[in-house]
Amino acid sequence: MLDIQKIRADFPILSEKVNGKPLVYFDNGATSQKPQIVIDAIAKYYQEINANIHRGVHTLSQLATDAYEISRVKIQHHINAKFSHEVLFTSGTTHGINLVTNGFASILKPGDEVIVSSLEHHSNIVPWQMLCEKTGATLKVIPMNEEGELIIEAYDALLSEKTKVVTVNHISNALGIINPIKYMIEKAHAVGAAVLIDGAQAVPHLKPDVQDLDCDFYAFSGHKMCGPTGTGILYGKEEWLNKLPPYQGGGEMIKEVTFEKTTYADLPHKFEAGTPNIAGGIVLGTAVDYLNHIGFHNIHQHETHLLQHATKRLLEIEGLKIYGTGKNKASVISFNIDGIHPYDIGSIIDKLGIAVRTGHHCAQPIMNFFCIPGTIRASFSFYNTKEEIDIMVEAIKKAKAMLS
Ligand code: ALA
Repeated sequence: MLDIQKIRADFPILSEKVNGKPLVYFDNGATSQKPQIVIDAIAKYYQEINANIHRGVHTLSQLATDAYEISRVKIQHHINAKFSHEVLFTSGTTHGINLVTNGFASILKPGDEVIVSSLEHHSNIVPWQMLCEKTGATLKVIPMNEEGELIIEAYDALLSEKTKVVTVNHISNALGIINPIKYMIEKAHAVGAAVLIDGAQAVPHLKPDVQDLDCDFYAFSGHKMCGPTGTGILYGKEEWLNKLPPYQGGGEMIKEVTFEKTTYADLPHKFEAGTPNIAGGIVLGTAVDYLNHIGFHNIHQHETHLLQHATKRLLEIEGLKIYGTGKNKASVISFNIDGIHPYDIGSIIDKLGIAVRTGHHCAQPIMNFFCIPGTIRASFSFYNTKEEIDIMVEAIKKAKAMLS
């Protein structure tokens, strides 16, 4: 069992007051809070080893380069990638996905098909739409059911030799549904398609094993897993990363430049043009260490209890409907109350110190499916408590009484 009070003491913001009330932070799906060790590591980098990486012979540059590359290896081991050069530093999931869609622009032809799921965040829809517009490929969408689960038979039926790429999130940001990605990857590979997994909402809750999943790409953000904003990782299988052209041109990603022709650096540098977020990349390694120290098994156990407790308590409220009732779920609950706009509930409970996200959660197709403008989303982390959930439930009851 986790000692939650001890863990909470690692996060200075959790003892802050917001609007005069103790903060109850349930917007972890948007970004997680940061432990002191991560905050300190950022300052330590700038105080002790700040220098540009891969460029200087001087000591600080070498220290910064070593720290950056050690972090890459740490993340390689965390996701069980075969090689560290399959781990690319990015600014976040969106960057990783755009890097891949940009690369596929030189591969896809008219008549090819890209399959996305109806549970995607806009950042895993729009880049693929842009790619299809550019190449003449067709976008196909895996439908969902009323429980917020993908209809897997429909996915099977969409797959054909025309399918070149399949992309799906590991966990839906809007509903918390965990998708059967291992099965989906296997089926996509059977028709020769590549698979990108959007792992943004998964990495705070579980440790992905990219070799076991056998995905071709796995993109995620650092800031949702206790790391700094502006950090992320794109895992890509070596053979795919060698096949795709660079995303951005610039310093660092070249082997040799003349005005006649430029040759590109080997992996991973081919995809890492420009001075990166050095402190962020290093400190993402610190965040990964921190999470592994807590232990993903413990995180899963605690978050499962939180999800069960919140589901039970929220359903006590008359007129409250939960969206995403499928069985396989992470600790995210999206809900609405009959006749009340989600924004109104969100604003009132904010005055009571409770942070939730309201709106379409960058997943408008899901909201359209349910014919709603948006939801209230409470997303829990391992540092949240049942008592906080009870505070939220009482606050929602109060808000409902005010608004009815
Ligand atoms: N994608 C993040 C969320 O779901 C920002 O809130």
